[in-house]
Amino acid sequence: MNTYGRQPVDPSATSAWQKLDELADQLRPDLRQWFDSDKDRAQKFTFEAGQLHVDLSKNLVTEEIMEALLELAEEVGISQHRDDMFSGQRINVTENRAVLHTALRRRADEELVVEGSDVVAGVHQVLGRIYDFADQVRSGSARGITGKKFTNIVNIGIGGSDLGPVMVYEALKPYTDRSLPCSFISNVDPTDVAETLHGLDPETTLVIVTSKTFTTIETLTNAQAVRDWMLEGLKARGAVVEGQEREAIGAHFVAVSTALDKVEQFGIIPERTFGFWDWVGGRYSVDSAVGTVLAIALGSQNFAQLLAGFRAMDRHFQETPLAQNVPVLMALLNVWYSNFLGADTHAVLPYSQYLHRFPAYLQQLTMESNGKSVRWDGSPVTYDTGEIFWGEPGTNGQHAFYQLIHQGTRLIPADFIAFVNPAHQISVQGQDMHQIFLSNFFAQTQALAFGKSIEEVRAEGSSDAVAPARVFDGNRPTTSIMAPELSPAVLGQLIALYEHITFVEGSIWGLDSFDQWGVELGKVLANRLLPAVDGNEQILNEQDASTQELIRYYWDNRQQ
Ligand code: F6P
Repeated sequence: MNTYGRQPVDPSATSAWQKLDELADQLRPDLRQWFDSDKDRAQKFTFEAGQLHVDLSKNLVTEEIMEALLELAEEVGISQHRDDMFSGQRINVTENRAVLHTALRRRADEELVVEGSDVVAGVHQVLGRIYDFADQVRSGSARGITGKKFTNIVNIGIGGSDLGPVMVYEALKPYTDRSLPCSFISNVDPTDVAETLHGLDPETTLVIVTSKTFTTIETLTNAQAVRDWMLEGLKARGAVVEGQEREAIGAHFVAVSTALDKVEQFGIIPERTFGFWDWVGGRYSVDSAVGTVLAIALGSQNFAQLLAGFRAMDRHFQETPLAQNVPVLMALLNVWYSNFLGADTHAVLPYSQYLHRFPAYLQQLTMESNGKSVRWDGSPVTYDTGEIFWGEPGTNGQHAFYQLIHQGTRLIPADFIAFVNPAHQISVQGQDMHQIFLSNFFAQTQALAFGKSIEEVRAEGSSDAVAPARVFDGNRPTTSIMAPELSPAVLGQLIALYEHITFVEGSIWGLDSFDQWGVELGKVLANRLLPAVDGNEQILNEQDASTQELIRYYWDNRQQ
């Protein structure tokens, strides 16, 4: 039953949408001319959100277009929807759940009563336990079954129970305790377990099984494999004897889940179990107990800073008028490109090696949230939703796929992200390396926006035959995001920025951005096919011809 009172608005039926259609028809983008004729353009389209400095001026929008986009946001009721999310209304309609990841980063004194209980008190109760445990592991007071200090942590999880922790761990490497390295197992490919465990010592390894539902087959299979490895290893060296298994698992395994009963069945003890709530979506959960591995790696103070960063962006999103609200503006630009200018994909290009998993993280956040074809009342959409997010850190991308962004036939809006201060200050022959890196960041958006005309190419002496190939049309849209440094607080702001962009886009499209029914069918079929893969001829014969052939190929060619 739909307990959220509001119905989605069909955005394509609004007057703003009609206006945007007309504006798109008339659009003749000319960033060179737009910047020439309006000396204030850069300043007009630059905004601050927390510590993020966001320059939207190289996008293919005029003030008139921006106004129409803002009208669209008003017409579909963005502010109401946002406030309903923050206050704990059940806006996840198809799962009949509130959506309260923003409660995870409220300060302890920022009470939030939802359906009769203060959710913030619960959040801080769990956080306190996580911080205590993190301190114990870091200080060595929590030890393995043989009394040795932990020297490695392995997080097992997939999707939101993996991508957030990995991304943040990589992004904040300089803040981590390097004597306590963390590794991550997600894929059910046995290679992932084998390679991750290679060289690890079961006696000094702490394992965190992270699964919201504790039913995900990949995670449970990996957890079982690691459990076997742990017990075999401990038994082989006489550290554990038959009958002591529970004690060993109690000492070496931690669980993060909403399904506490299932955790207990697996054998992980309640003192080592950290819970969260069904109102935290997997892809929005890195700031919940799912971040336990991060609290250990970063220490509780840095983790608290990360949360404070999220909170700063939440407040910007909640309190800033729409016309200066960065997540709203960035979401509207994405809608403009997707629905009116025909863009299918969106590149995210961090000029920070530490953010190398950020695009992968965003893929789940944005595509699992907004890859939908019906609105939250079940009515079919008649417009595109959910653009394809992708990217790589600069400058690697420059030498790989930027050619297509600069000169290809497709429109690819791109977000460029860079930091003023590097984590490592290195000079090469007197030249600051970070300046070389940043020059590329500045140069790329300049080249994409302003291009190089045929006259300029000819003036450089190109022959008529070669000149066309060397022309850059320009007018390729980019957003530049800068911040002082990649600190825990800034990372929190960056993640929350994209969470809210995703929310606003979903809201304009009328989607339930918090369910993920599209991943269910494949899971069911994989379970159904496993006996056939394992040799059951009868089940194999029930399958379609292509699948039968593929499985027979596997049967015929396997070595054992
Ligand atoms: O892929 C579907 C999904 O449900 C994601 O939304 C989720 O992040 C992931 O699986 C893992 O789920 P769980 O944390 O319950 O193991």
